[in-house]
Amino acid sequence: PRVMVIGGGQNCEHSVSIATAASVAGALDRERYEVESITITEQGLWIRPGGEPVPLHVVSEADVVFPLVHGPRGEDGTLAALCELAGVPYVGSGVRAGAIGMDKWATKLVAEALGIRTATAALVTGKGPRSLPPLPVVVKPVAAGSSYGVTRVDHEADLDAALAAALALDDRVLVEEVVHGREIDIAVLGRPDGSHLIGPPLEIVVPDGGIFDTDRKYGGTAQFRLPAVLDADELTRLETAALTMFEALGCAGVARLDFFLTHTGLVLNEVNTTPGMTEQSQVPKMFAAVGISYTALLTELVQAALA
Ligand code: DAL
Ligand code: MG
Repeated sequence: PRVMVIGGGQNCEHSVSIATAASVAGALDRERYEVESITITEQGLWIRPGGEPVPLHVVSEADVVFPLVHGPRGEDGTLAALCELAGVPYVGSGVRAGAIGMDKWATKLVAEALGIRTATAALVTGKGPRSLPPLPVVVKPVAAGSSYGVTRVDHEADLDAALAAALALDDRVLVEEVVHGREIDIAVLGRPDGSHLIGPPLEIVVPDGGIFDTDRKYGGTAQFRLPAVLDADELTRLETAALTMFEALGCAGVARLDFFLTHTGLVLNEVNTTPGMTEQSQVPKMFAAVGISYTALLTELVQAALA
């Protein structure tokens, strides 16, 4: 089958997606698949590797599309929508799961309705009265990724700059209480036979005790502990919450659900329906730790889309 890998995109995670798409295209099983790569430039132009522009309906040339654009105009369900309209199978979540997962406010509402705790937050839209949680807080765009536009605010004087930084990326912003706890990621993989596989828990360790921000994500200072050391009860609660959210949003393919484990229980931070997928990213590392190689994981994802 012809697999069309789509990366890049028109948001702050463009280069993160380029890295993921290049890595996936390089690792797909070439004995099984013919791989074609499309890049969406920051300006929104769709191009082939040589730079030749192509129309959006190029997706119709593929047997299956592998969308790897993080963030708005990609992960938020828009690429899934294009594939749906074109009638082409695609890897990963559909329109609804992408749209809700990309929206940290909507995710919170769904999670809370299911009894899964999230950080106490206020939604700020630039207009209207504000009633914010007490400092310290974390200010973040509702729909962005890789921690772009995210600031921890400890002093009132820094609040306006933090709001402006988040509002530069989205017209809706969340101001959340700081959650004190261990940061644990759980990956859920929907398999071709319809069953689910949950990867081993991965703990993010930030040596200097700061937040897992963009620099620490991509600057190499954070470390992963895999598997995270948890007791059986903690693991069960994390896995149950991850699967509950995966199912409630109707996710497909692989999603990474990020939690905080606090002294009073777990707190869902967010759902990533198009998580980082370089070989060094969390999801491939989690499955590699249980014997599913990077290439085998990609084959599973493509086969689930074709099933
Ligand atoms: N948004 C980044 C790519 C992640 O969650 O992995
Ligand atoms: Mg994210």
